[in-house]
Amino acid sequence: KIIVLDYGSQYNQLITRRIREFGVYSELLPHTISAAEIKKMAPKGIIFSGGPNSVYDDGAFGIDEEIFNLGIPILGICYGMQLMAYKLNGRVEPADNREYGKADIHVTDESAQLFKDLPMDQTVWMSHGDLVQGVPEGFEIVATSPNCPIASMADDTRKFYGIQFHAEVQNTQYGHEILKHFAFDVCQAEANWSMADFIDQQIEKIRATVGDKKVLLGLSGGVDSSVVGVLLHKAIGNQLTSIFVDHGLLRKGEAEQVMASLEGKFGLNIVKVDAKERFLSKLEGVSDPEQKRKIIGNEFIRVFDDEAAKLDGIDFLAQGTLYTDVIESGTDTAQTIKSHHNVGGLPDDVQFQLIEPLRTLFKDEVRELGEKLGMPSDLVWRQPFPGPGLGIRVIGEVTPEKLEIVRDSDYILREEIKNAGLDREIWQYFTVLPGFRSVGVMGDGRTYDYTIGIRGVTSIDGMTADFAKIPWDVLQKISVRIVNEVAHVNRVVYDITSKPPATIEWE
Ligand code: XMP
Repeated sequence: KIIVLDYGSQYNQLITRRIREFGVYSELLPHTISAAEIKKMAPKGIIFSGGPNSVYDDGAFGIDEEIFNLGIPILGICYGMQLMAYKLNGRVEPADNREYGKADIHVTDESAQLFKDLPMDQTVWMSHGDLVQGVPEGFEIVATSPNCPIASMADDTRKFYGIQFHAEVQNTQYGHEILKHFAFDVCQAEANWSMADFIDQQIEKIRATVGDKKVLLGLSGGVDSSVVGVLLHKAIGNQLTSIFVDHGLLRKGEAEQVMASLEGKFGLNIVKVDAKERFLSKLEGVSDPEQKRKIIGNEFIRVFDDEAAKLDGIDFLAQGTLYTDVIESGTDTAQTIKSHHNVGGLPDDVQFQLIEPLRTLFKDEVRELGEKLGMPSDLVWRQPFPGPGLGIRVIGEVTPEKLEIVRDSDYILREEIKNAGLDREIWQYFTVLPGFRSVGVMGDGRTYDYTIGIRGVTSIDGMTADFAKIPWDVLQKISVRIVNEVAHVNRVVYDITSKPPATIEWE
């Protein structure tokens, strides 16, 4: 395996993911890990990720310098390269201009391992403040760019490499190849890892962690918790009890579907709780999005607590937390964007230990995992649905009346997207109720009613997204049906922003 040390870049999990795509197991680890611990793991290679710091910042993230003596190849990316240069007595200095965006590099050494068989001129993605201005002893400069004289450095003897650009992002033309060269040519890793191995590893890990204790899982109805449920059931069978909370914020027909599939087909032991009133009363009068998320998240945990109290001796709580939730809620090293409920909203007094087997995966990897577990494709390919559910699709205060409007309009949207054969193409699609009213005319009368917003996006992993170009005639059909069939709606609008700058959800 190849390990990636986390220096806080938003892209760092992409590195492990790319490597796993090559069939080499990779995981992201804290940069505070010791050389002794790494030695025990015996990885084939180590990557230092990028990060927002300067090596000269107070409290800048460092490294156990013994790592340089392990005889294991190292690739430093961006901050990782600067850190390597700094620690090995090279020269790191602030750049005259911060560089952010595409840059053209020129490979100056034809025999450079990382750039083997690649064009000498290529486009890369740069994002940095500091630069390496002098390579440490033993290193050579192997690529340059106009703004960055040392775009890549190499020490073939010790097998230490640095790239100032981000090879893991799509905008770096030959990023995959460069990482492949590091993994296979430099580290001599073997491509023998697959999702099936991930399942075996996780099952083993879950069994080791859980022993003969009991685990409680919150099923939300979405792909993530369903996959966790099936995975855990496979690992520990009936030591798992799942609680399916109907918080009243689910889509139409969802609760019934989940029960039929997971309980009916997979044999999970599920306790279904009707907590509609409980959630609604907590949400009464609350319109701030972050507060709503926190309330829903907290209430979720409390419902578990209450249910768990009825069960005997539960020690663990399993959750379908994904890497995107982790990174957007802020890890030790990355900044907070939104507090996702299954991470940021946890109250301090939770009395369970957490099990989060999907924590290192992106959405599409979870789907692959679900398929490998033999889950039906309608469940695995179900579009993502946020933990707080329709609660964050009614903008502002949540009321039963407004929930009904979102639920009914969403159902129509889903039906028509499916009829048009677009349900796999569009990554996520739903309706939102902004909550203001506007004037319309129906029959002979003036109306003063709600607007429904339609959101449809294409995305790979939810980190970035484009608005989906749904054909006009499909949109028109949806619009007509919503206005005709859903009471109190007289206007439909389509959201044409991408992420960034907007997020996928409106709250
Ligand atoms: P945003 O709105 O942040 O959404 O662009 C990215 C993806 O995450 C989903 N999402 C959530 N999922 N708990 C979840 O489990 C949450 O609190 C949450 N908020 C957003 C969203 O639906 C999209 O797929």
